[in-house]
Amino acid sequence: MQQIDLKKMNDEEKLLVDKAVEMIDYSYSPYSKYKVGAALMDSSGKIHSGCNIESVDFTLTSHAEMVAIDSMVKTGCIEVKSIAVAARGISNKPPTPCGLCRQKISEFNNDGSCKILLVNLDEKYRIKNIFRTTLDELLPYSFSSEFL
Ligand code: THU
Ligand code: ZN
Repeated sequence: MQQIDLKKMNDEEKLLVDKAVEMIDYSYSPYSKYKVGAALMDSSGKIHSGCNIESVDFTLTSHAEMVAIDSMVKTGCIEVKSIAVAARGISNKPPTPCGLCRQKISEFNNDGSCKILLVNLDEKYRIKNIFRTTLDELLPYSFSSEFL
C-alpha cells in the first residue's frame, strides 16, 4: 500500500476518487454516522457507484463497495478493474474495506489485480490523503471457486 500524490493521479483515478467522495452525500448511516462512498470502473470502462445503507435492525446494512458492485452486476458486467472507497479515517490511516467487501471484490475480479484507492477524508469530508493498493495485497490466499 502506498500513499499517492493527489496531483499525480491519472484521469481514471481522479474520476473514481471524485465519484466516491460525491457518494458520501447519499450515505444512509444514522446509526454508525460513518459515511462511506465507493465508485468502481468495470472492464468496459463504465463507472458504478454506491454508498453504505444502514438499517435499524443492525444486520441488513449494505456496504458502499457492495452497493457499487451490485449496481455493476445488474448492468451485465461481472469484472471490476478498479475501485475507490472514501470515508473519514482515523488520523492518516486509509479507510480499508472490511473482509466481506474484500471477498465480494474478489468474486468479481478474477486475477486479484483490482486497483483499490482508499480516500481518507477529514471531518468536513475533504480529501486528506489517498492510498493505492491492490486486491492481492488486501486479500492474500483468498478463497475462490478453484477450491470447489
Ligand atoms: N462500511 C462500509 O460501507 N464498507 C466497509 O467495508 C466497512 C464498513 C459501513 C457499514 C456501516 O454502515 C458503517 O460503515 C460502519 O460499519
Ligand atoms: Zn465492507
